Amino acid sequence: MIKFLELIGFDNELDADLKNVFNEVLEKGIFINGANVVEFESQFSDISESNYCVSCGNGMDALTILLRSLGLRNGSEVLVPAQTFIATYFSIIHAGLKPIPVDVNESDCLLSIDDAKKRITKQTTAMVFVNLFGFGNSHKEIFDFCNSNNLELVYDSAQSHLTEYDNNLLTSSGSHAVSFYPGKNLGALGDGGAILTDRRDLNDFCIKYRNYGSIQKYKHEIIGINSRLDEVQAAFLNRKIRKLNSWTEIRRKQANAYLSNINNKKIKLPHIQPKLNPSWHIFPIRVKNRKKFQAFMFDKKIETLIHYPYSPVTCDALSNYSYNLDSFPNALDWEQHEVSIPIGPHLDIDSIQKIIDAINEF
Ligand SMILES: Cc1ncc(COP(=O)(O)O)c(C=O)c1O
Repeated sequence: MIKFLELIGFDNELDADLKNVFNEVLEKGIFINGANVVEFESQFSDISESNYCVSCGNGMDALTILLRSLGLRNGSEVLVPAQTFIATYFSIIHAGLKPIPVDVNESDCLLSIDDAKKRITKQTTAMVFVNLFGFGNSHKEIFDFCNSNNLELVYDSAQSHLTEYDNNLLTSSGSHAVSFYPGKNLGALGDGGAILTDRRDLNDFCIKYRNYGSIQKYKHEIIGINSRLDEVQAAFLNRKIRKLNSWTEIRRKQANAYLSNINNKKIKLPHIQPKLNPSWHIFPIRVKNRKKFQAFMFDKKIETLIHYPYSPVTCDALSNYSYNLDSFPNALDWEQHEVSIPIGPHLDIDSIQKIIDAINEF
């Protein structure tokens, strides 16, 4: 079976390294706020070219903490794409704000700025732009739009480690929430997350807020939460981060092979803007008869997944918002037709070729 994802077992050297790292942390006996966390924050801000990095418990907390740091009016409205992982919406709600779905682009499933223009009201105070699948857009264009409408802007960059636009890393400007969920391009062996920001004021708030509102032990300056990256996860991430550049290059080569060689009228490939260099967390295709396609691929011993079969606007947990589904045609198209095909450093060139051949045969 060609697996969608494999977290261990494809790089023996790394597996051995991770075991050693675990032993080192065990022997030291420091499990919270240790040297590995400090080292990871420094390594991750360096590789991301961001001024500041604040680690925390997971990607959803990163977004909640970041939104809290902006001090937005309680209950005010936040523009957010109608198709994303549900954590984007829940974090807005946990930050005391109201998610306002915006339809996505037909071409790449990113928040449509044209549609955002129609959704702004006097209550709108911010936008969460999701770099879904590892895609992204011009920071300047999004920032200018938000700035001219007096909106704060934050990015959900859970899937876009090292994505570039116009030769710049997306994370080199603005404020981003990142996830290190195990399956992410840089994943821990458990939960983990981080806030990257170019703003010192936000950095200072986030450092306190994630740790009971405290920098100095038992001195609590603000009401905070407990959301810290564990020392052992930071130690794993310090090893795995050494692979991030080469793993991202592998994903890009595989994605280029798919883009150049998949040739089947029944399959819609994602449209990539010329200046975008995605991190390819996910390679999404669209196909009308998705059920049949997934069964066909399964018969060929190729695992596929769907991201995401229930978009936030159709999600049971948010049904009390009574979204008008007719106004999100593109999000619903992605919800109903998207299939994610395997991509990542666990796959060799033969597997990629088998996947291409199977898709072309469908
Ligand atoms: C787009 C998006 N946002 C937020 C999250 C939340 O991250 P976590 O699972 O680390 O809380 C994820 C990943 O799970 C994600 O894919």
